[in-house]
Amino acid sequence: MEVLRNKKTLQDFIERQREMGKKIGFAPTMGALHNGHLSLYEAARAENDLVISSIFVNPTQFNNAEDLKKYPRDTNRDIKILETSGLVDAVYIPEVQDIYPEKAESQPYDFDGLENEMEGKSRPGHFDGVGTVVEELFRQVKPDNAYFGEKDFQQLAIIKKMTEKKHLHINIHGVDIYRAENGLALSSRNQRLSENRREDSKVIYETLVKVNDWFRTVSIPEIKERVQDIFDDQAGMQMEYFMIADEKTLKETDFFYKDKSYRAFIVVMVDGVRLIDNMHLD
Ligand code: PAF
Repeated sequence: MEVLRNKKTLQDFIERQREMGKKIGFAPTMGALHNGHLSLYEAARAENDLVISSIFVNPTQFNNAEDLKKYPRDTNRDIKILETSGLVDAVYIPEVQDIYPEKAESQPYDFDGLENEMEGKSRPGHFDGVGTVVEELFRQVKPDNAYFGEKDFQQLAIIKKMTEKKHLHINIHGVDIYRAENGLALSSRNQRLSENRREDSKVIYETLVKVNDWFRTVSIPEIKERVQDIFDDQAGMQMEYFMIADEKTLKETDFFYKDKSYRAFIVVMVDGVRLIDNMHLD
């Protein structure tokens, strides 16, 4: 596996691969790799000649300096995981100036309102930061296909929108949420939870499964009350929000319409760690 540590090395590598007519699959990450990331590489492996990943903890998408500071970083461990997986041909690990040559700041984006829902309300500026870094990485890596986890479903929608509006001609693929055996959605943030708290946090997934069972037989306001009751009973957990939203517009709904598809979204703070999850409702 090639380890590309700056923009110039990446560009030389990409040029060689393009000359050979290779189809490139790309999965950007912020490191602290886990099996969820490996599932992105597996999806990329199945559809491309070459799989590239990147590791870059993007400062502009953190609206909380403490969160950025605490974000787990261990590049040597990540490189070992990538090498052992055998799924990735090259990893790009840029320095801040490779992505932000002048100042580490976001570009303003118009994602047609997707940015104003859910995470956009709780994390102002977050999606401009994501759009900025992903657009820059796309321009440098020039992939044919790019892969993102559905755990960050709103991020996935926003990246699809940005790619379309900027005419980048990259196919964006969503990959199913990878869950631990107890159902907890895998996230780099889970490393900050004790084993016991990771076990307790399975209640998030179990609640989403219940919501899916209630869907279309119980009213949405009633579902919301039931979900709130579940988390009121969990010591040390605070539910930040729960909502059912239209999968396309991400707008919250209080009624079901037959011809639309819906997804439940939830954010819970567990011992100061912000866990997010979602589930498509059948
Ligand atoms: O999902 C992530 O890990 C990040 O938001 C991404 C897409 C790599 C951009 O920094």
